[in-house]
Amino acid sequence: MRKNLYIDGQWRESEIYSDLKSPYSQQTIAKIAQASIEQVEEAIDAAQEAFKVMRNLTAYERSNILEQLVNLLITNKDKAAEIISLESAKPLKFAIGEVERTIETYKFAAEEAKRIYGEVLPIDAAKNGANKIGLTIREPLGVVAAITPFNFPMNLVAHKLGPAIAAGNTVVLKPASQTPLSSIFLAELLSQTDLPKGAFNLVTGSGRTVGDVLVESEKVKMVTFTGSPGVGLGIKQRAGLKKVSLELGSNAGLIIDQHTDIDVITDKCVVGAFSNQGQICISLQRIYVHESVAEEFLQKFKEKAEKLVLGDPLNITTDISTLISIEDNNRALSWIDEAIAEGAKLISGGQVEANILKPTILAEVPSISKVSCQEVFAPIVTVNKISTVQEAIEAINDSRFGLQAGIFTNDIRKASKAMHLLEVGGVVINDIPTFRVDHMPYGGVKESGNCREGIKYAIEEMTELKLVIWNQ
Ligand code: SIN
Repeated sequence: MRKNLYIDGQWRESEIYSDLKSPYSQQTIAKIAQASIEQVEEAIDAAQEAFKVMRNLTAYERSNILEQLVNLLITNKDKAAEIISLESAKPLKFAIGEVERTIETYKFAAEEAKRIYGEVLPIDAAKNGANKIGLTIREPLGVVAAITPFNFPMNLVAHKLGPAIAAGNTVVLKPASQTPLSSIFLAELLSQTDLPKGAFNLVTGSGRTVGDVLVESEKVKMVTFTGSPGVGLGIKQRAGLKKVSLELGSNAGLIIDQHTDIDVITDKCVVGAFSNQGQICISLQRIYVHESVAEEFLQKFKEKAEKLVLGDPLNITTDISTLISIEDNNRALSWIDEAIAEGAKLISGGQVEANILKPTILAEVPSISKVSCQEVFAPIVTVNKISTVQEAIEAINDSRFGLQAGIFTNDIRKASKAMHLLEVGGVVINDIPTFRVDHMPYGGVKESGNCREGIKYAIEEMTELKLVIWNQ
């Protein structure tokens, strides 16, 4: 039951353990070590020491370590999916999908470890550059602190650990306090690879103790964080001169133009809005549908949403289970009530049954309602009619966030307009904004973040460009 810290290649007990409860059954599933300030500092010191070894590994060796991890994950796929599902209430079918993605993410990292290139620069292109050439090389930073969220407890760790190892950095990981078991399992697997001792350290515990020490330590060269904008901003303000990569939230929008295939689109919208109970940064939250197809859309969307199976996350037929906490249920319900009081119409859902919030569709929602303008992180979606694509683009841009947006249209000029005018990190044409594969650049503008993940892009963030001038 007791789960310990992993520091300098050893499992370490702590003074305090806290109960980890399954969000679905509310039963205690483990007792998790709460790292003290001194233990976090030891983990940082171990990572700093291990960097002396890591920075000298060849690309071949770093790639090989990541391949070993890939093979261990393949062998332990079912166990990994069950852990995700148990601790986060992610329905098992989606947890299996997350493990498959995690394997692919580490595979990309193993490949990218061999593709960290520099450039040769024609320095003599400048008047004062005669007889000189320039080289750029990318060097690892040192100790990277990774702070990860509950919603993808394995794959979003992979998005930090994979590129960090590929680049030759060392890591201290603080996983979300709601979902530490996936990271503990990862530490067990990593201990079976050739990763140098101390190159990966796991410190579980509270954001205040563990997170603050990591963010403020001068020995840590970069903090990479995925989570809420409030916490992200706080990290940036306290991090001093170290690099800070933030992948934050959004209220992703989708435009549905006229003359589109509503049957196909409604299938996709059900996946985009309700997978993992809407707890995805690019979950489909706001739909803007052309008035000529709005009625057909709402009717089919409601029918399909109401067919989703609610229940135990460990049951393979379950589509929707509990949110990560009861407080989140209460928050979501109060936001729904507030939207209705502000003029929205409840089309479907809006109730909690056996601790599970039913997939909720609201129409004619004012843009000031929290379910529209804040990140809802629950199975709630708004549907508003529009008469032009331009109007929908303006509505999507009227947001603090800008991660990804989508448009379904058969008009190439409108697609092109959306591509240029949507203020987001990624525009998805003829699909939902909830699209991600793990090598694409992923990240946002505005309060959605300040970086790009996706292994190749994360390696750029996790390395320093060094210039060499060579006088010939
Ligand atoms: C996220 O919620 O930030 C990640 C979404 C994904 O990887 O699919």
